[in-house]
Parts: sequence; structure tokens; C-alpha cells
Amino acid sequence: MHLQPSYVLTVDCCFIKISYCHDQDRYHDHTSFDYKSNNLVVIRHKATTYGLKLNDNPYADLLDFRSKRRRAIELGTGCGAAGMALYLLGLVDIVLTDISPVMPALKHNLKRNKPVLNKALKTSVLYWNNRDQIRALNPPFDVVIAADVVYIEESAVQLLGAMEELVSDDGVVLLGYQLRSPEAHKLFWELCEKAFVIEKVPHEDLHHDYCYEEADVYILKKKKKKENVE
Ligand SMILES: C[S@@+](CC[C@H](N)C(=O)[O-])C[C@H]1O[C@@H](n2cnc3c(N)ncnc32)[C@H](O)[C@@H]1O
Repeated sequence: MHLQPSYVLTVDCCFIKISYCHDQDRYHDHTSFDYKSNNLVVIRHKATTYGLKLNDNPYADLLDFRSKRRRAIELGTGCGAAGMALYLLGLVDIVLTDISPVMPALKHNLKRNKPVLNKALKTSVLYWNNRDQIRALNPPFDVVIAADVVYIEESAVQLLGAMEELVSDDGVVLLGYQLRSPEAHKLFWELCEKAFVIEKVPHEDLHHDYCYEEADVYILKKKKKKENVE
């Protein structure tokens, strides 16, 4: 990973080269990909990219996006790197969502990467507390992607509510996580364990180039509703 002048960050790994340029003032990002093979899922990017190995791990089936078509949605997409990477790995039925002010930067990046993506990925404005927007996306989804989205205590409840409404009963939330705010962290995980079975991916199953001590990948599955016993 090389940090170059002008906020350009180049992340180089076995299948993807992300040239990421971030203009702090205008939230204007440039991301481009160089797709090489398919043995890494990038859950998040920037300074702390973490990747799940696609092969030779207990999650290979879960991450086999090519042989099993899944409906997917990303929450808090930002500039779109995780969503674009997952699309390239076969998660082709994916909609990238974020709040309105982020859309111009996201769309700019998608347009910039169109030669690699070969199509315009779907985007949608989604505020996690907006039930109408959630319903309009026609849930449930098989896969919900969320990367580095737990950082504001006030929105932790909304985020979990959106995850619960969006993911199917047998679907998964792939959460890229790094502790940003102790308050948001506490609330998020307290509420999360009420609704989801939480599995933390062991670091040996993360790609060695992207295994940072402070960064984790979680797999969340909805808890089964207790059957009514008459
Ligand atoms: C730290 S950024 C992470 C962006 C991207 N996933 C990444 O890993 O680079 C958090 C993202 O969550 C979005 N977000 C925060 N609160 C939100 C809310 N209430 N509803 C929808 N999106 C929200 C922000 O707009 C931002 O793009």
C-alpha cells in the first residue's frame, strides 16, 4: 500500500488495484480497479482494507457469488469501493446505497470505473431510518454489505433496524468493522446480539495482506424466531 501525495492511496493486492483519491473538502473520490483474479473479497478499503479469502476457508460457500446468484445491498457505500469489488467478484445483483449528499461522489466513481465494471451499477438513496425507502428497495436481500458504518451512537439503532428489515431470514450481513466510537460500539453490539447470531471471522481467514489487528469482519445471521408452542 503506497500513500502518495494529493490523498491518492493505492491498494495493491492479488486481484485488485484501487487508486483512491480523496478530496477532504468536497468528498469527491476517485477509485479505479484493476481486476486480476478472484480470490479475495474486499470488505472495505482505504487505509484499513480487510479482505476475506474466497478459497480455502470455511466461508468459501458463503462467498461463492458466481455459482449462486444472490440479491445484495450495500449500506453506507461511500465512494463505492467495496460494492464495486464485490460486483467484480460475482455479486452482480447489487444496489449501492447512501445518503443524498454522497450520491454525486458515488456516481462519479461508478462512471469512472464503467470500463472495468462493464455496466452502471444500481444506486439508491437510503437513510437507515426511512421505512419508505427501505420498502421501496423491495427486501429481503440475501446479502447485506456494511463497511465501517458504526461510528455514530444515534444511528446505531437505525442501522440495525435497516439491517433487520433488509436481510432475508436465511441471508447474511457482511460487516467490516473497526471501533470508531466507544458509545456507538457499545450500543451497536448490545442491540446486535438481540437480533443476530454474530460470527467474527478469525484473522487467519482474512487475507494476510489485509489482516489488521484493529479491523474485523463479522458475519451476522438473523436469529430464528421462537416457534409458538400451543
Ligand atoms: C465511514 S463511511 C464508510 C463508507 C464506506 N462504506 C467505506 O468503508 O469507505 C460511513 C458511511 O455511512 C453513511 N451513513 C452514515 N449515517 C447514515 C444513515 N443514517 N443512513 C444512511 N447512510 C449513513 C455515510 O454517509 C458514509 O458514507
